[in-house]
Amino acid sequence: MSADITEAGLALLRVDRVNKRFGAVVAAADITMVVQPGERISLIGSNGAGKTTLVNMITGYLKPDTGRIGFDRRDITPLAPRAITRLGVARSFQIPQLYGDLTVLDNMLVANACHDQRLSFWHPAQRPEAIERAERLLERFRLGEHRGRRVAELPGGVRKLLDIAMALTGAPKLLLLDEPTSGVAAQEKFPMMDTIMTALGQESMTVLFVEHDMEIVERYASRVVAFYAGRIVADGAPRQALATDDVRRYVTGELIAE
Ligand SMILES: Nc1ncnc2c1ncn2[C@@H]1O[C@H](COP(=O)(O)OP(=O)(O)OP(=O)(O)O)[C@@H](O)[C@H]1O
Ligand SMILES: [Mg+2]
Repeated sequence: MSADITEAGLALLRVDRVNKRFGAVVAAADITMVVQPGERISLIGSNGAGKTTLVNMITGYLKPDTGRIGFDRRDITPLAPRAITRLGVARSFQIPQLYGDLTVLDNMLVANACHDQRLSFWHPAQRPEAIERAERLLERFRLGEHRGRRVAELPGGVRKLLDIAMALTGAPKLLLLDEPTSGVAAQEKFPMMDTIMTALGQESMTVLFVEHDMEIVERYASRVVAFYAGRIVADGAPRQALATDDVRRYVTGELIAE
């Protein structure tokens, strides 16, 4: 076990010299980043830059070829996704993973039952405190009015919010959101991000979110990490990172790439 990723200190997540290739494609090239509790980090980069690959490696769905990942002072590199979730890493997906035939509240209770070893998957509604926490999260995500509706009947934006609320039922320490506003109408994006970030602020959540809209990035991120061809090309405060030549060349396209 490498000492540097498990060392004591404030860092919640340490990605240390991580590499990942798919055949000839370099999806992660020597990625190193340290995340402190409370940060809201936006992962930006053009299509295929390696953002989802990094999210998948942090959550255990993919294993790095080389390098280590440390979370909460443990080496999580070899762990399965379920074990990493249990330690406090939650995620949402580019396409929400929901139970369309169940109500909003039942989706929350099933998600909660999946996190809580003491609960049976088939009788998730039996614990009053599970219901109470689910109701509280639904209120925070402005989903209270939808609690009794079947998920299949809900608009896309509401489903995305539910997916994120479900990810929080296990009281994680780190949340990874892969394009929370993708597929949402332009005029819905800001209200939706307001709802998400206000709710996450109330939970004091540390967040990594993949986002393509630079106005959203600038407004909601406390830090930006920019990727190109599997490499980190900028890492810093949003305004500074977005103003770098590499971001303007490889991410926003304001400069012509040579
Ligand atoms: N399972 C896989 N098998 C083969 N190649 C993959 C796999 N996953 C990702 N890749 C490749 O790795 C590179 C990085 O992909 P990744 O999905 O991480 O990009 P991304 O930054 O999330 O892009 P997008 O903005 O389009 O979601 C791409 O070239 C992609 O085709
Ligand atoms: Mg992606």
